[in-house]
Amino acid sequence: MPTTTETTEPEATAALAAQLARRLRPGDVVLVSGELGAGKTTFVRGACRALGVAGAVTSPTFTIARRYDGHVPVSHLDLYRLGDLADEDPALLADELGPDRISFVEWPEVGAPAGLDPERVVAQVHLEHRGGDRRLVVVRERTRPPTAR
Ligand SMILES: Nc1ncnc2c1ncn2[C@@H]1O[C@H](COP(=O)(O)OP(=O)(O)O)[C@@H](O)[C@H]1O
Ligand SMILES: [Mg+2]
Repeated sequence: MPTTTETTEPEATAALAAQLARRLRPGDVVLVSGELGAGKTTFVRGACRALGVAGAVTSPTFTIARRYDGHVPVSHLDLYRLGDLADEDPALLADELGPDRISFVEWPEVGAPAGLDPERVVAQVHLEHRGGDRRLVVVRERTRPPTAR
């Protein structure tokens, strides 16, 4: 069941992300979609803070992927320019999504990274502009068997 929340400030979007982050564990992948400025990076930053990442969390648009050290290793991918980077090695991208990491992927619709096991996508987040500082935040989280926790 998706949960839909309207936020009125970036901190509220970050707080929603922090709630989701508490349920994430290594190997999990979270897809974050929505138009430019909708708040994808704001969401990922909020999740990263909750995962213990202290440094800057910005959209890795020109590098495709960033790695952060939190309580667990975290990857942050932005596939927006994937099509422009024809020589990007898909194997490197697979490394960024290693099973030891929690990974967030902005612009997943541009191209799901090759070799990504769909089973690892535990949540899909979609953000929409609602005028001014208002954003609609839809979180679709896969239910997991209790034994897997
Ligand atoms: N309710 C809100 N939720 C998220 N971001 C918001 C909100 N209101 C205003 N903003 C602002 O919108 C911008 C979103 O930028 P960013 O998170 O980089 O978006 P994206 O990664 O989707 O392009 C930021 O400047 C943020 O401060
Ligand atoms: Mg972004």
